[in-house]
Amino acid sequence: MAILFHCPWDNADEWLGALRAALPDDEFRIWPDIGPVEDIDFAMVWKLPHGNLADLPNLLAVASLGAGVDALLADPDLPRHIPITRLVDPLMVDRMAEYVTATVLHHHLGLDRYDQQQDAVHWQRHPTTDAGDRTVALLGLGQMGRRCAQHLGALGFKLRGWSRSPKTVDGVMCDHGEDGLKETLKMAEIAVLLLPLTARTTNLMDRSAFAAMPRGSYLINCSRGEVVVDGDLLAALDSGHLAGATLDAFREEPPRQDDPYWRHPKVRLTPHIAALSSSASAALILAEQVRRAREGRPLRDVVDIGAGY
Ligand code: GLV
Repeated sequence: MAILFHCPWDNADEWLGALRAALPDDEFRIWPDIGPVEDIDFAMVWKLPHGNLADLPNLLAVASLGAGVDALLADPDLPRHIPITRLVDPLMVDRMAEYVTATVLHHHLGLDRYDQQQDAVHWQRHPTTDAGDRTVALLGLGQMGRRCAQHLGALGFKLRGWSRSPKTVDGVMCDHGEDGLKETLKMAEIAVLLLPLTARTTNLMDRSAFAAMPRGSYLINCSRGEVVVDGDLLAALDSGHLAGATLDAFREEPPRQDDPYWRHPKVRLTPHIAALSSSASAALILAEQVRRAREGRPLRDVVDIGAGY
């Protein structure tokens, strides 16, 4: 049998090398050169053009090469009767927690302001806020949200959390549902988006959500661009209601040259690197998924298609 592979990333060769090392007896068919369709029993893909998973008669499962499955689930021809899996890699969870911790601290310590002062050759100290007097809200309490909570909690931040369904997380005051969102945002001096993109989270952060946040608060988006209504975020930044934003995800990636985020003085932009997947560790996880599928054992991290993640 053979594995269908599609990876549009710059390091696709590195991925293939790691996968071949983890599954030495397997043949990898690299889309679009997939050969006879009946040979393919497993697919490992990222942003495979829609419709290409529909007519593979022996396909046992589809594995995403990333944590998010929104692009995969948007395929109207996705075979929904077989398991679709997310990539849940502890290394990515750690990477996300590092990115979020660094970004929270950067804003918390006012380092942007000192960067600007250095540009202006200006020496001035500003009062500091202690971590214990700063509330960080984590929107999304999956593995990544919970690891961020551990890191930020260890630094002493006050933590709020929000998720679709009720959750309990040590050291975090958790809320859920629509009313819970407003309660969480009201307290969020720094709001971190770690939500999967679903029908419910699309455009979640709109004018009313930003208005609920305290004046001078800060947004960090490590989720998907579609969770944020860009015009409403820009308006909240321009009016001074929000102090700034760090954005790692965008509706269009890369954003167009004339996208206002590139040059906005209150925006820090990173090219979707908060939790890069790692071919070496992912290959071991994916190889185990292949073995499970072929042996008829349950796969890990199967997507709940109804919930959308
Ligand atoms: C990145 O955004 C991922 O889904 O892994």
